[in-house]
Amino acid sequence: MQFNNSIYEIPIINKLIVYDETDSTNNRAKLLINTSSPEQVPNTLIVADCQTGGRGRAGRSFSSPSGEGIYMSLILKPDLDASDISGITLLSAIAIYRALNKYHNIKTNIKWPNDILISNKKISGILTEYINGYVILGIGINVNNKEFNQAISDVATSLFLETGKTLNRENLIEEIFTEFSMLYNMFLKTQNLKFITKEYNDALISYNKDIYIIPQELTNVLTNTYNITNNNLESCLCMGISPKGELICRHNDGRLELVSSGEVSIRHNF
Ligand code: BTN
Repeated sequence: MQFNNSIYEIPIINKLIVYDETDSTNNRAKLLINTSSPEQVPNTLIVADCQTGGRGRAGRSFSSPSGEGIYMSLILKPDLDASDISGITLLSAIAIYRALNKYHNIKTNIKWPNDILISNKKISGILTEYINGYVILGIGINVNNKEFNQAISDVATSLFLETGKTLNRENLIEEIFTEFSMLYNMFLKTQNLKFITKEYNDALISYNKDIYIIPQELTNVLTNTYNITNNNLESCLCMGISPKGELICRHNDGRLELVSSGEVSIRHNF
C-alpha cells in the first residue's frame, strides 16, 4: 500500500509501518511494544495489505484478504485511568462513522460497543487490547470486498457491496485518523464521553429498542433468538451510552443496569 506524506500531518501518527502480509497487525504491535524502547512506540500505526491470522473479539477470526480491506493497529499510551481506557474503542467507532459520512456520504450504524454496520451487516470491527500500559487499537474494515464466503455472508458486508463505490484505502485511513485525532484529544481533556453521547446514540442500532445481553462465555453459543429465549435470558430496553461508555439498559422490572464492554455481547432481533 502506498501512502502520501500527508499521513504524517495527522497529529496522532508519528510513525508508519506497512506490511504486504502479516499474521495480525495487533500481533505486530505487541511485538513492537515488547522489543522497542518505550519512547519509540507510541503513535505508531501498523497497516497490512492482508492478514493471515486476523483476530476479532471473543476469539473469532477476522477475514483479511489482500487488496480489499483495511487492517491496521495504532499504538497509544494514553494518560488515562484504567477504567476510562475502554472509551477509546467507542471513540474509534465514531471516527469511522464520521469519516464515512463526512467524506463519502455513507450512512452507517454502530452496534455497541464498536461494530460498524450497514443494512444490519458488519462492515467494520475493532479489537482493542491493553499491554504494559499501551493500548493497541486494531481496526478492520471491509472496503472493496466483492464477496464473502457463505459462513459469514449473512452477517458481513463491504462498503463496495453496499454502495457500489470503490474507495481508496489509504485515503480512508487518513480520513479516519484525522477524525480520531480530534476525538482523542478532546477525550484526554474531558476524560468522559459526554461530547459524543448524542452522536453515538443517534448512530446506535439498538437505541430505544429491546436487546439481549449475552454473557461472554455464551457469546459463541447463543447465536439465535431461539437459543437465547431457551436459556431464560430476558430482553431489556437499550437507553444509550453513559458518559463512561457503558450501555444503559432498563429491565422489565424498571431496574437500570450499566453494562461494560468486554463482559458481554449484545443481540437484537429487530
Ligand atoms: C471484531 O470484529 O471482533 C474485531 C475485528 C478487528 C480486526 C482488526 S484487523 C486489524 C487488527 N488486527 C487484528 O488481528 N485484528 C484487528
